[in-house]
Amino acid sequence: MHTILCFLSVSCILTVSANKTTFEKNGITFEKDEHGDYSLSTHEIPVLQSGSISDVEDMKTLYLLDEDFTDMEPGTFQNLPNLKKLIITLNSIPNIKTGIFNSLSNLTFLNLKANNISHIDSNAFDNMTSLENINLSKNKLTSVDNHWFESTPSIKLIHIGNNQLKKIPANVFGNLKSPGPFTLVFNGNKIRKVFKDAFQGLGTICMLSLESNKLKKVNFLEGLEVNVLSVKGNNITCIDKEHFDTMFVANSTDISENPLGSDCRREIQAWVKEHNKTVEYELSLFSLTF
Ligand SMILES: *[C@@H]1O[C@H](CO)[C@@H](O)[C@H](O)[C@H]1NC(C)=O
Ligand SMILES: *[C@@H]1O[C@H](CO)[C@@H](O)[C@H](O)[C@H]1NC(C)=O
Ligand SMILES: *[C@@H]1O[C@H](CO)[C@@H](O)[C@H](O)[C@H]1NC(C)=O
Ligand SMILES: *[C@@H]1O[C@H](CO)[C@@H](O)[C@H](O)[C@H]1NC(C)=O
Ligand SMILES: *[C@@H]1O[C@H](CO)[C@@H](O)[C@H](O)[C@H]1NC(C)=O
Ligand SMILES: *[C@@H]1O[C@H](CO)[C@@H](O)[C@H](O)[C@H]1NC(C)=O
Ligand SMILES: *[C@@H]1O[C@H](CO)[C@@H](O)[C@H](O)[C@H]1NC(C)=O
Ligand SMILES: *[C@@H]1O[C@H](CO)[C@@H](O)[C@H](O)[C@H]1NC(C)=O
Repeated sequence: MHTILCFLSVSCILTVSANKTTFEKNGITFEKDEHGDYSLSTHEIPVLQSGSISDVEDMKTLYLLDEDFTDMEPGTFQNLPNLKKLIITLNSIPNIKTGIFNSLSNLTFLNLKANNISHIDSNAFDNMTSLENINLSKNKLTSVDNHWFESTPSIKLIHIGNNQLKKIPANVFGNLKSPGPFTLVFNGNKIRKVFKDAFQGLGTICMLSLESNKLKKVNFLEGLEVNVLSVKGNNITCIDKEHFDTMFVANSTDISENPLGSDCRREIQAWVKEHNKTVEYELSLFSLTF
């Protein structure tokens, strides 16, 4: 028997510690605590230059929150052997270049949420062999590059919610070497089309969220093993009965808040009774019409 370990959400809480001390390196002052949590006390650094955060043995977590960086140069982070979590959010870094993160082979968690990112180089995450969890939400990405996660063999959770993606092309994660299982979040984009073979090769998906997009059909799940799928809040009108078994592949599917029509919802209800699946298909919580 094999057990699937899914981690659906990881929250990062900035803990307040009584024992903060300051620490200076390369002209930058940090505040650190006894757990190895570091944050900056030198503010108003517009560009993080090569080597500016390097050679800190006991740094485990680094927070770069709301610092108004406009760029990070390749080589910014070097020789941080114990750094596991890096949280860079609420800055303005339109372009993520190759060479910034590539020496962080022990990093497991990278949060790049809300940095106005519109481009990420194909090799930007190369050699991040321990990276499990990446959060790119609330940026301005318009496409997913199929090379990004080519050499992150531990990746399990990819969050690209609230960007400007318009489609998920075929084989977008075809180069992944990670065994998964995967959690993939694409909520709040402008996705109209997910190609049939978009997630081919991914094996097991714990959770796939395409909530709040503009999808009209769900025909991209064949051959996959999915635990939870959400296509809530899309533009799915009706689905052919013959296609229910390729559509409701997940153990649990949320297709609520779509313009399904009452006949369609009745058919889904009947199908769900016959099959051992959970499907949420109401228009909203208060529109029970059966
Ligand atoms: C990523 O960021 C989104 C948006 O703030 C948040 O809802 C989500 O929990 C984060 N996920 C992870 C795994 O950090
Ligand atoms: C602060 O440091 C002192 C001495 O190292 C220790 O006894 C105390 O428990 C620490 N306080 C916290 C909140 O970790
Ligand atoms: C990763 O961690 C190991 C063991 O703690 C250490 O020997 C190695 O230098 C670290 N690698 C990098 C690239 O920092
Ligand atoms: C975000 O990036 C765009 C370029 O992609 C730029 O024009 C804009 O000024 C940036 N916004 C902020 C708040 O930095
Ligand atoms: C990743 O590692 C390989 C082999 O060590 C090296 O050739 C390549 O330049 C590295 N990639 C990056 C982007 O640092
Ligand atoms: C779907 O549910 C079954 C029964 O609970 C479970 O054995 C299986 O692992 C689940 N599938 C996934 C992909 O989690
Ligand atoms: C939903 O699809 C219909 C056509 O089927 C289209 O007219 C409408 O604009 C779409 N709505 C949204 C919000 O994209
Ligand atoms: C239906 O699924 C539930 C949980 O997903 C499981 O406990 C139950 O044994 C299944 N029943 C059948 C008949 O497969």
